[in-house]
Amino acid sequence: MANNPAGKVWFIGAGPGAADLITVRGAKAISEADIVVWARSLVSEEILGYASPDAEVVESTDIPLEGTAAVYRRAAREGLTVARIHSGDPAIFGAIMEQIERCEDLELDWEVVPGVSSFSAAAAAIGRELTIPEVSQSIILTRRASRTPMPRGQEIERFAAHGTTMAIFLSAARPRELQEELLSGGYPPHTPCAVVYRATWPDQKISRCRLEGLGDAIREMGVNRQAMILIGPGLDAYGRRSRLYDPEFSHMFRRGSSESIRDITEGIEAR
Ligand SMILES: C[S@@+](CC[C@H](N)C(=O)[O-])C[C@H]1O[C@@H](n2cnc3c(N)ncnc32)[C@H](O)[C@@H]1O
Repeated sequence: MANNPAGKVWFIGAGPGAADLITVRGAKAISEADIVVWARSLVSEEILGYASPDAEVVESTDIPLEGTAAVYRRAAREGLTVARIHSGDPAIFGAIMEQIERCEDLELDWEVVPGVSSFSAAAAAIGRELTIPEVSQSIILTRRASRTPMPRGQEIERFAAHGTTMAIFLSAARPRELQEELLSGGYPPHTPCAVVYRATWPDQKISRCRLEGLGDAIREMGVNRQAMILIGPGLDAYGRRSRLYDPEFSHMFRRGSSESIRDITEGIEAR
């Protein structure tokens, strides 16, 4: 259509829940959208506060992919901008690829805005770094098999054999089975765990336990969805320090110093 600007779909990570955890870029994209597609079950209604009062709002909880694709067809036809809001970071269990494929089929422009994932929010809620020198230098983001089967070799027991930090999504529904799989994979029974339900939402709940009590802890919380399960020895490791801030360690932005710690700290305190 003449003078009709090309449409576009923005896939926006809204963050884990709290409306002020969306990125500035994500909020701007929502504010400029003609149509905002969001799922009430996953994203706070407060996020809609960033939308223009003229924007059309589509609640997508009950709409299958075909329904969202129909919105994208309209966007392509009428040159509209769509903000498709996803929880956390769209790149993690976000089901955006199937939507991107629809956009490509329609020759409709699209872009992804990353978001704060729930695993980061859960780590913040318990006040822990997930990578601890000499204890855990990798984070495995995974889930239990359910109606979505795990590809061969990616079973949770296999990952448990690494013994590093694991952030487990979508897996609170059968907590005793989860506990058994983590144990049989090789985590010792005393491995620290944290369960964070609805991180950053007003009704956030946290439970900390050892792996041998994980199933009971999740049952006692009374949650079976929207829970992030963190596990790994790094969750209660203390007394380690990183090389990054070691005074004798050089890197691209800082030359290692032989100055005494006292000279360094006194110089900084005197500023
Ligand atoms: C479909 S996945 C979406 C993940 C999302 N893309 C992310 O980056 O957090 C949904 C799962 O993410 C986790 N999740 C999402 N939001 C959460 C929150 N606020 N607190 C704890 N877990 C959350 C839960 O494990 C939930 O079952």
